[in-house]
Amino acid sequence: MCGIVGYVGPRQATAILMDGLKRMEYRGYDSAGIAVINGDGLTVRKAAGKLGVLAEELAGNAPTGRVGIGHTRWATHGAPTTPNAHPHVDRSGRIAVIHNGIIENANDLRKALVARGHEFTSQTDTEVLAHLIGEFYDGNLEEAVAAALRDVDGAYGICVISADEPDVLVAARNGSPIILGIGDDEYLVASDQSALVEHTRSVIYLDNGEMAVMTPKGYRVRSLISRRVDKPINQIEWDLETIERGGFEHFMLKEIFEQPESIENTMRGHLLEETGNVRVYGLKLDDDQVKEIKRIIITACGTSWHSGMIGKYMLEELARVPTDVEYASEFRYRNPIIDEHTLVIAISQSGETADTLAALLEAKQRGARTVGLVNVVGSTIAREVDGGLYLRCGPEIGVASTKAFTSQVAALAMVTLRFARLKEMSLLDGKRWVEALAALPGQVREILSRADEVKVLAEQFADANNALYLGRGVNFPTALEGALKLKEISYVHAEGYPAAEMKHGPIALIDDAMPVIVVAPRDAIYGKIVSNVQEVRARGGRIIAITNPGDEEISDLADATFVVPETLDLLSPILTVIPLQLFSYYVALRRGCNVDQPRNLAKSVTVE
Ligand code: AGP
Ligand code: GLU
Repeated sequence: MCGIVGYVGPRQATAILMDGLKRMEYRGYDSAGIAVINGDGLTVRKAAGKLGVLAEELAGNAPTGRVGIGHTRWATHGAPTTPNAHPHVDRSGRIAVIHNGIIENANDLRKALVARGHEFTSQTDTEVLAHLIGEFYDGNLEEAVAAALRDVDGAYGICVISADEPDVLVAARNGSPIILGIGDDEYLVASDQSALVEHTRSVIYLDNGEMAVMTPKGYRVRSLISRRVDKPINQIEWDLETIERGGFEHFMLKEIFEQPESIENTMRGHLLEETGNVRVYGLKLDDDQVKEIKRIIITACGTSWHSGMIGKYMLEELARVPTDVEYASEFRYRNPIIDEHTLVIAISQSGETADTLAALLEAKQRGARTVGLVNVVGSTIAREVDGGLYLRCGPEIGVASTKAFTSQVAALAMVTLRFARLKEMSLLDGKRWVEALAALPGQVREILSRADEVKVLAEQFADANNALYLGRGVNFPTALEGALKLKEISYVHAEGYPAAEMKHGPIALIDDAMPVIVVAPRDAIYGKIVSNVQEVRARGGRIIAITNPGDEEISDLADATFVVPETLDLLSPILTVIPLQLFSYYVALRRGCNVDQPRNLAKSVTVE
């Protein structure tokens, strides 16, 4: 969840650490701190609040030293206070630790350490780990870290330094991302490549149970039981410019406007117009394996779960494969029925969501074949699945997921085509699908050219404190996604509902203070949603309708209408979601909310 950064090399560490933390602040931001080795001691500086608070405290009296670690925190154990901020030190005060994740057996370890005379200054699980490492330390830092981690249960990505080994930086991971940056006679560690790319594009992704030991003279990767591990060096494809805002006021707006390109990139090289099919070798599913799949389970969280819901409609209608969509946090603790004919699709933008990763591992253990639809290259989920498709939609920095969602739906459409064309979908229908997919980026671009229309709508409805989103069929998940966008960045309570279901309770909420956003493209069930809109109208509800050109019935009933181009019914969410993304952005802006870093949220939930 948090941002981790470490440095060892010829340059001063503090500025490198702070720049790295700044680039990762979106990952989790309730407190921050650094530790730097200088002379024969260790300087630790930390502060509650945003990174800027720490930066102010360091201004003019930053610690000097060439080995250091830094951390931005998203609290799991103990409130976001300065004492709970990382780095944490051991009893001697000469070993410092930063940590991303949760030490599950921290309480037991803490009790045993207290019984042996240790005193703690924080409520965190991380401080327990620091004391444990200190207890094992007998002049060899990497062995002390390995010994302590062998006693630890839980998820961690850590960096450790010691004043007694002033040119050594140790990193280790189990469940939380750790990436090594391989520079020229300097080495870095980070939880996210955005903190590395300005120093080096050469990176190594640690896997679970692995450690790295870095000095200015080189690096070594090993397992906890000390075997040397050879790791490939990868190249970061994204440059800093790509990551920066690109002239937009917020990352979220930049990413909304990137969708014509991001959807294009997701599909690039996969669409086969001649055969009305797709080339998706990454799935690692040959024709026979596709035919052996009797059931599909899609597992994900949040927005990724919503795209999975759309995938269900696609796969069942066109590929005729029974498909269930499961919240990963629920799936992992159920006793799911899985066999070798089950395909489990894990959808995750970050590739590090703890619940989704755990659900995936549970499915693998039960013999499922697994596929990942993931954006971050080299992320844990991407490396755990049997096959998959990278979304390739570029770094998504805004906490509210936008371009990843439309790329996930496009990827699901391609998976559907892969299955459907082996079964009942004709060449003509396949060509129609490929043609419709290829047209989407241009249609999204056209919608975005009218973003100001949505801004005007948002102004009219920004004072509402509640909202209801309605949709039917494949646009019911779109309604859910629109509601999530609004609530997570503007803090307005919003619910998504199947339009017809609204009669069974939520209709009691309808009054002129409750905007009702209806997703109503002219699809096969358009006539049904018209009657739902009439029911809302009859009770004085204020209606915003998302519909297609030429619509009259709903436009006559709605207080405001936004038109999106027509496409195939099952692909319409990629278009109908765009005005909903923009609507939530402009409402949040109007309400003075922190759009890119909404309160209480973090971009990647890498803890349970
Ligand atoms: C979406 O706007 C939220 N930020 C959140 O629901 C997110 O979709 C969820 O945490 C899953 O993240 P992932 O796609 O990286 O796994
Ligand atoms: N569990 C640790 C804490 O609460 C680390 C949380 C994080 O990943 O930022 O301090």
